[in-house]
Amino acid sequence: MSEPITAHWHAPSNIAIVKYWGKFHNQIPANPSISFTLTLSYTDTKVTLTEAKEQLPTADVFYEGVEKPDFLPKVLKFLDHAMAFYPWLASKHLKIETRNTFPHSSGIASSASAIAALACCIEDIHSLLTFTPFDRQRVSHMARLGSGSACRSIYGGFVQWGSTADGAGSDHFAIPVEQVHTAFLDVKDYILILHSGKKTVSSSAGHGLMKDHSYAEPRFQQAKQRALALRDILTSGDWEMFIRLMESEALTLHAMMMTSDPPYILMKPNTLAVIEKLWQFRSDTGYQIGFTLDAGANLHLIFPASLTHIVERDFLPEIQYLCEQNRIIRDCIGDGPRKITEG
Ligand code: PMV
Repeated sequence: MSEPITAHWHAPSNIAIVKYWGKFHNQIPANPSISFTLTLSYTDTKVTLTEAKEQLPTADVFYEGVEKPDFLPKVLKFLDHAMAFYPWLASKHLKIETRNTFPHSSGIASSASAIAALACCIEDIHSLLTFTPFDRQRVSHMARLGSGSACRSIYGGFVQWGSTADGAGSDHFAIPVEQVHTAFLDVKDYILILHSGKKTVSSSAGHGLMKDHSYAEPRFQQAKQRALALRDILTSGDWEMFIRLMESEALTLHAMMMTSDPPYILMKPNTLAVIEKLWQFRSDTGYQIGFTLDAGANLHLIFPASLTHIVERDFLPEIQYLCEQNRIIRDCIGDGPRKITEG
């Protein structure tokens, strides 16, 4: 290889309905999780590969055009894992140019889309170098080693990571959920930006605190049952059951944080204010509009596309002032990563 090789991908973030919270060595999840992949919240990454003299891969990372040496340790650690799949990475230099369409470190899974986009670029270069087809399962497997939730961003639609009691899924990579009722094919996720500042406790630290957590075992058992229950709900198309399970998962995730040792709280007063207004709105109108939370303060409003005009006309005016600069990302379920062809 004498000429530089480039690969350019967009990979979306995802939002978990059944949450992954707690892990074992090598990013093996303590319980299965099920998410759906987003459309507008994505990372755009371009990798330019050149020859280098070192025995291990080297890299430069540019975020929105600015060099970011502080991103390097995580990237190099990931490349170290990736060498198990792509031995040619040794003695290569990667120039990584990346940007997000949404604020990072704010409880929208930016590591999921960032690692997914980088993994897609590396697999794409691999298929160019070896004349082999792009292998999504390998990408998902590799992405998991960088950030657990990233392995789900490799597929579109609803995605399961972690094995369930019925023998479906794998702890090593994600798989698409095949049987999804039409009622869930056009799900909206309006992300209310209630707090865009950096989180006080990272997800890695949060997973770590599950190790000696008093409620860890019952929580893992609950999530195992809920992954199965959610798959049934997705097949049946029952939005009421979907919302009940989704909201309990979000609150359980945050309850785990509040009952960790030391405890911590990632929700903000406006998170609770929106939840109260949503519950009131739902009880007044009966509309199936629910919420979930990631590991952060921002609230994801989840509803079928058929209710978009109701949300826009009747609910957002009640709560938009609680968002930072009225900011809402009007996202929806999407098809997964996309290769960008230049020119
Ligand atoms: O993939 P990580 O290590 O950033 O953990 C993500 C954990 C949650 O976003 C809170 C839940 C999930 O399943 O995505």
